[in-house]
Amino acid sequence: GIPRRSVAVRCKVASFAPTILTKLQKECATPLPVLRHVADAMAADMRAGLAADGGSDLQMILSFVDSLPTGNEKGLFYALDLGGTNFRVLRVQLGGKDERVIASEFEQVSIPEELMFGTSEELFDFIASGLAKFAEKEGGKYHLPHGRKREIGFTFSFPVRQTSIDSGILIKWTKGFAVSGTAGKDVVACLNEGMERQGLDMRVSALVNDTVGTLAGARYWDDDVMVAVILGTGTNACYVECADAIPKLQSHNSSSGRTIINTEWGAFSTGIPLTQFDRDMDAESINPGEQIFEKTISGMYLGEIVRRVLLKMAEASDLFGESNLEKLSTQFVLRTPHVCAMQQDNSEELEAVEAILQDVAGVKSDLNARKIVLEVCDTIAKRGGRLAGAGIVGILQKMDEDTQGQIYGKRTVVAMDGGLYENYPQYRRYLKDAVTELLGSEISKNIIIEHTKDGSGIGAALLAASNSKYEHDF
Ligand code: GLC
Repeated sequence: GIPRRSVAVRCKVASFAPTILTKLQKECATPLPVLRHVADAMAADMRAGLAADGGSDLQMILSFVDSLPTGNEKGLFYALDLGGTNFRVLRVQLGGKDERVIASEFEQVSIPEELMFGTSEELFDFIASGLAKFAEKEGGKYHLPHGRKREIGFTFSFPVRQTSIDSGILIKWTKGFAVSGTAGKDVVACLNEGMERQGLDMRVSALVNDTVGTLAGARYWDDDVMVAVILGTGTNACYVECADAIPKLQSHNSSSGRTIINTEWGAFSTGIPLTQFDRDMDAESINPGEQIFEKTISGMYLGEIVRRVLLKMAEASDLFGESNLEKLSTQFVLRTPHVCAMQQDNSEELEAVEAILQDVAGVKSDLNARKIVLEVCDTIAKRGGRLAGAGIVGILQKMDEDTQGQIYGKRTVVAMDGGLYENYPQYRRYLKDAVTELLGSEISKNIIIEHTKDGSGIGAALLAASNSKYEHDF
């Protein structure tokens, strides 16, 4: 008989990689019926989440933002942004209708990895001290009337149960954060305590999700903005809803009859085509069973899914020759920016792909292997982009049904932000194609999907202004 070992060796033939690829492409396919099903399910889940808390995967969180920026906002405001890989601070001087943004300055630092796994105090100390350093640089430029505190719009991009415009309780962490001691607490109180420890006397006037900040920021310039979507480390969407379409809204009376709903669509899960790679990644994640849509379409995860596919291929075939697979076996070594960079390689020999595979994943590749790798990247980006597009259509569809054609029948803007959307042209194209396929070319002409760069910072500052405790006339 044949010794056991050689059976194993004999199985390890090159043709295995294409077989895995074909299976992957089949399982990740998002033909129109799949997209339609996802869009319909998104709309249905939205309704269920609006009917009752816990009614669906989508939390449909009330933002307590009932009026959007008008352009009349005036004064000096700060904004803080915590939500993904970076932490940002912003100072903006608003000049009202004609002058708009007179001056703005910002700083950005990446969040040290260990803070994502530390204590709540450590994280909020870090934020408060970043803010304190930035505030110092204001240097006597602005004089506030005596007794008036500087006001902050705080963009905190995690699921928060808002209790008012300036307070809210963290429901859970997402996007790889596992900070102890914050869940169940008011994050504004946490920030206030951090500021107190820093001897900083500022006041949070608005607590907003990044989607809500983006919607507000985009709306400042364009009245037709109705939806905002973040596609970055994580993903989420918010939109303008009619108060009477929210059965679970009881005591909270919106004066304008409208309010922004933060869908927390990252938790959506109905009808998403998943593979064994997705299921394994989810099972080994720090939040198994949660944020399934986010894990399929957002920046934190696309690279990791590709890595898992490549590792499986390398183990089952000689895709990367005799390469040592140690590096490729490490979770999250291959990041979405690498996957994106590989897809931008148009060279004949795919040198950039080769270099990334070597430097990042530690494997050698021939041209054929590199082509297979690119196919894997494209398959995962395509599924993500198209599903994101279907999600957007689900929201528009729900809004259009409720308003008898007010969305599809006129210009409607979807404000987009996040590094994934901004930096990944193929992903963006797949997203837009899916939206057009679903809506048809006539309606799509009315739906403008537009990048609002860093809108959430300005948006949070604007909401701090419209929810200010003081009369702003300086
Ligand atoms: C995650 C958060 C959500 C945020 C999104 C984009 O899904 O739960 O609140 O808006 O990431 O940053």
